[in-house]
Amino acid sequence: MNNDIKEILFSQDDIKEIVKRIGEQITKDYEGKNLLLVCVLKGSVCFMADLMREIRLPCKIDFMDAKSYGCGTETSGVVSISRDLNYDISAYDIIIVEDIFDSGRTLEKLTHLLSARGPKSVACCSLLDKPERRAEGVSLKLNYTGAVVPDAFVVGYGLDYDEKYRNLPYIGVLKPEVYSN
Ligand code: IMP
Ligand code: MG
Repeated sequence: MNNDIKEILFSQDDIKEIVKRIGEQITKDYEGKNLLLVCVLKGSVCFMADLMREIRLPCKIDFMDAKSYGCGTETSGVVSISRDLNYDISAYDIIIVEDIFDSGRTLEKLTHLLSARGPKSVACCSLLDKPERRAEGVSLKLNYTGAVVPDAFVVGYGLDYDEKYRNLPYIGVLKPEVYSN
């Protein structure tokens, strides 16, 4: 797997520091609130697992599955929800936990979907942000951002290419020859 990586962007230590910082911010902001962390499967599992342990508040967790990618590196534009929250969320202050904010369609769709169900609040937290890739018409802004990345396809720490590389402990740029042939 390491041979398919062109460049490491964030080491395990870098990631640890980023996640700790976001955890501290959330801890300050959500004191006294009824926090529900919603992890977007599957790319956010590593981030979610580490982030929840950096939040020094009682909170609940749950999972949704949304896909906007096929097996390539370009977004299809269509976001489908294959796992949803099937209960009343009106009592919760929700933070959607995402791996990467790319075209922005996934988080925008999830935010609209959950907001329409009348929770106390909905915020968005993404480990990575690729602002250059934002789709036209997406106006959503992140409430918590780990790091901004350039317009390159990245893998590791949950992020995949064709379901692979999720278990790399760091985040790196995938060599273009891996997905171009
Ligand atoms: P969006 O709807 O275009 O913002 O896409 C968000 C989803 O696309 C993320 O949750 C990722 O699963 C996937 N994605 C976007 N960019 C990358 C990348 O560079 N590497 C791996 N997955 C990505
Ligand atoms: Mg993915």
